[in-house]
Amino acid sequence: MAPVRFLLNGVETSAEGIAPTTTALSFLRYGARLTGTKEGCAEGDCGACTVLVSEPDGQGGLTRRAMNACILFVPALHGRAVETVEHLGRDGLHPLQAAMVERHASQCGFCTPGFVMQLYSGWLNGALTDRQSVKDTISGNLCRCTGYGPIVDAGVALGALPLPDTAEADRAQAAQLSALRGGGTFEYRHGDAVWFSPDNVDDLADLYASHPDAVLVAGATDVGLWVTKQHRDLPVLIDVSRVADLSMVEEAGGRFYFGAAVTHRAALEALARIHPSLGAMMRRFAGAQVRNAGTVGGNIANGSPIGDLPPALIALDARLHLRRGDDARSLPLEDFFLAYGRQDRAAGEFVAAVEVPELSSDERFGCYKVSKRSDSDISAVLAAFRLRLAGDGTVTEARLAYGGMAGTPARARAAEAALIGRPFDATTVAAAQAALSQDFTPLTDMRASAQYRLTVAGNLIERFRLELSGMPATIGEVA
Ligand SMILES: Cc1cc2nc3c(=O)[nH]c(=O)nc-3n(C[C@H](O)[C@H](O)[C@H](O)COP(=O)(O)OP(=O)(O)OC[C@H]3O[C@@H](n4cnc5c(N)ncnc54)[C@H](O)[C@@H]3O)c2cc1C
Ligand code: FES
Ligand code: FES
Repeated sequence: MAPVRFLLNGVETSAEGIAPTTTALSFLRYGARLTGTKEGCAEGDCGACTVLVSEPDGQGGLTRRAMNACILFVPALHGRAVETVEHLGRDGLHPLQAAMVERHASQCGFCTPGFVMQLYSGWLNGALTDRQSVKDTISGNLCRCTGYGPIVDAGVALGALPLPDTAEADRAQAAQLSALRGGGTFEYRHGDAVWFSPDNVDDLADLYASHPDAVLVAGATDVGLWVTKQHRDLPVLIDVSRVADLSMVEEAGGRFYFGAAVTHRAALEALARIHPSLGAMMRRFAGAQVRNAGTVGGNIANGSPIGDLPPALIALDARLHLRRGDDARSLPLEDFFLAYGRQDRAAGEFVAAVEVPELSSDERFGCYKVSKRSDSDISAVLAAFRLRLAGDGTVTEARLAYGGMAGTPARARAAEAALIGRPFDATTVAAAQAALSQDFTPLTDMRASAQYRLTVAGNLIERFRLELSGMPATIGEVA
């Protein structure tokens, strides 16, 4: 039986004799006695447990991601390197830690290791370019007592420091990690529980076909909570996040192909190229650590009615590619969502990719996320609109898709019908707004009332019209 092998603060480490769903946070605190990494929420919300995870980038170097250790399963560390706050301060205070001290950026200190590791990761990735980028970097970290000003100041100070030249050390570590990982499917067992981690899509297809009851796990930003919050037993897990064929973004023939295991961070740039409002929305998708781990495929496959990507991709007329054993099929993404909690996916079938057409010159697009908090919050309503306009401004095609309005992400067909064949003006928008109540009977819940949802869903169409007519607006920055 193979143990989980990884580098912990530069030292080769093995983990065995623990359940596959043991979190990295538990391992660090109770196994390795590295208690600098804190547990705040155990659900990926607060960032107190942030650690830096590195892995080979396939080009001889390393990819570095800050991740929430509280929803990261230990077998997912196999062949990766983990750095905790203890290692950062091994030779005395790191310049970031010194900057935090000088600026009084810590009071009770509970959140501080998480902020430090998150900012450190952002610095190494060249992401701390200005004040706003520092704020974006710490969007997944909460502080209940200091206030964010001094922490942002410390991040800005760090961003001004030159980056260390790590190229040679990275090459050496990448080679060491590849050797630790080994080729083929990694299998970790404890009692009756098993974790499989295949590295290619054919092996994934074979494994899932022979274990159709297994739980697929990608970034674990949903599945992690099934364990930490719902205490569910997950005896057979198949990790799709190491499948190289599912981890690519490709552009060909006017279309983007996002592999299911592409993280939100890796998808962001291509999504922003499809349309800036999509990029702006993705910058408000969860916080940075969740975007570093969570995947495009996981956001679709979980079938959530309040997932952010599905309505945006439905408006763009995306197609979903699925695979089961040797059989592959594809379908319009909107047809995948059958009813609340039910998707068109057979046992042993997995999401392989989503294919998204680029916008043509006669198409207009806008995407809007409405949530209580600007950062790291689930949408109350997500609206995405794509219109095709004739030369005289008449709407010839309309796709209005919403999240948060029904049991699935869904198109507003009656509102679309109210737009087609008419000029996209205030009168037409009023007709579409009125038609929305035929499309949706939203719920009242902790995020918004039914009335609020219906009102805001209509108002966003008007906002889209105003933006298209040239009204200055901060696209996608609705909070
Ligand atoms: C703090 C926090 C904030 C969040 N904020 C947002 C937000 O703003 N917007 C939003 O939309 N979501 C948000 N989420 C939810 C979550 O991050 C996303 O849904 C994410 O995309 C899930 O991807 P994952 O790779 O982590 O999925 P996982 O947790 O690994 O899996 C999710 C589901 O998909 C299945 N699955 C995964 N990959 C495949 C595949 N290839 N084929 C078939 N099934 C598969 C799993 O079995 C599971 O049922 C948030 C989550 C957290 C913890
Ligand atoms: S403990 Fe809050 S994000 Fe992990
Ligand atoms: S310093 Fe107390 S929570 Fe941030």
